[in-house]
Amino acid sequence: MTNPVRPRGTCRICGGAVVQFLDLGRQPLSDRFRTGSETEPEYFFDLAVGACESCTMVQLMHEVPRERMFHEDYPYYSSGSAVMQKHFADTARRLLETEATGPDPFVVEIGCNDGVMLRTVQEAGVRHLGFEPSGKVAAAARAAGLRVRGDFFEESTARAVRDGDGPADVIYAANTICHIPYLHSILRGVDALLAPDGVFVFEDPYLGDILAKTSFDQIYDEHFFLFSARSVRAMAASSGFELVDVERLPVHGGEVRYTLARAGVRRPADRVAALIAEEDAAGVTTLARLDRFATEVGRIRDDLRALLERLRAEGRRVAGYGATAKSATVTNLCGIGPDLVSCVYDTTPAKQGRLTPGTHIPVRPADEFADAEVDYALLFAWNHADEIMAKEQAFRQAGGAWIQYVPHVHVR
Ligand code: SAM
Ligand code: TMP
Ligand code: ZN
Repeated sequence: MTNPVRPRGTCRICGGAVVQFLDLGRQPLSDRFRTGSETEPEYFFDLAVGACESCTMVQLMHEVPRERMFHEDYPYYSSGSAVMQKHFADTARRLLETEATGPDPFVVEIGCNDGVMLRTVQEAGVRHLGFEPSGKVAAAARAAGLRVRGDFFEESTARAVRDGDGPADVIYAANTICHIPYLHSILRGVDALLAPDGVFVFEDPYLGDILAKTSFDQIYDEHFFLFSARSVRAMAASSGFELVDVERLPVHGGEVRYTLARAGVRRPADRVAALIAEEDAAGVTTLARLDRFATEVGRIRDDLRALLERLRAEGRRVAGYGATAKSATVTNLCGIGPDLVSCVYDTTPAKQGRLTPGTHIPVRPADEFADAEVDYALLFAWNHADEIMAKEQAFRQAGGAWIQYVPHVHVR
């Protein structure tokens, strides 16, 4: 089913034509939780996604200014998940063992947030620096004794660090590079700061998993790019780098860790070509596959809305669990407000007592969930399902049931 009048844009990576395949409608800032007394109009933008006809990069059709998303009150604290704490401690140890092996290594992180990864680097006595423009999360990292620069990483700030600290052996980023439309400036910054044989390692939600699971809620203002190995390889090659390794990760619903080195310095692992072959076999970057994804998203939207309306008609009590940025896409696309989901439980103090973006569902402390009178819990933080189910076992034992919408709407 082809639409002859698809909106088109210009690729942020190669300048080619970006062809839209999914429109998720007007959406708010996914991490902007309002207080009940705020009266000024909420910021909304058109959330639509397209794929570049030339380099295959999947990207948003419209960009939200970075200062609207990342600022003093940015409320996402990476250490809020025990599973993620372990993931980042393991990651840091691996990087220290394999890459930071010289006499006085230097590790830089882009988007270090509350210091969940750099903490382990610092404990090992290794020189480090985090870039973190969001004020309160950066303050949390500093309070843990970490060295943090409160700037956006880009060419100019990277050069300033190179002048003061010398070259970095590793530049690492998790769930941050896909947030950055101005990637050319990032890559020029990496070029300026990275040692000749250093590596740039970043991990982000993987397009292959997003399509396989129909996890359309991975699409929101902050997730500007949905990377695949093919699109990242092309991006690297166009800026003097080479994709030399890929590793699939189970976290956040399926990610890939990409390792870039300067072109010609390291032999690419066989895993790179293997993953690209897998992507080609699944048609990951074809418009036909992306159109099928868009159709599946429409089905989930209709099924979830129908289920919640039925439960309301039956007088069942439904609450949300995890006031994730992802849930902004789901609730705003499906029109889920406090009439269908009475509140959302979440462990983050910066979100509690506030209202969800756009749909204004009250956020309550997660430790109230155990005593809440709830029949169904809609699991917005499905990527943390194992961790949450383990600590909320009493809910199901008392007759409660979980609703999930990835990869399709189901009750368990
Ligand atoms: N790395 C952490 C993790 O994986 O949990 C934090 C991820 S959080 C979703 C993205 C972080 O990147 C935010 O803390 C934001 O302030 C930061 N960020 C956004 N643009 C950035 C840039 N250009 N340079 C450095 N940090 C940036
Ligand atoms: P994320 O999916 O972007 O990591 O966001 C997870 C959200 O869910 C965040 O607001 C913290 C919250 N959360 C809980 O409320 N309980 C939990 O056990 C976990 C792991 C996260
Ligand atoms: Zn392109």
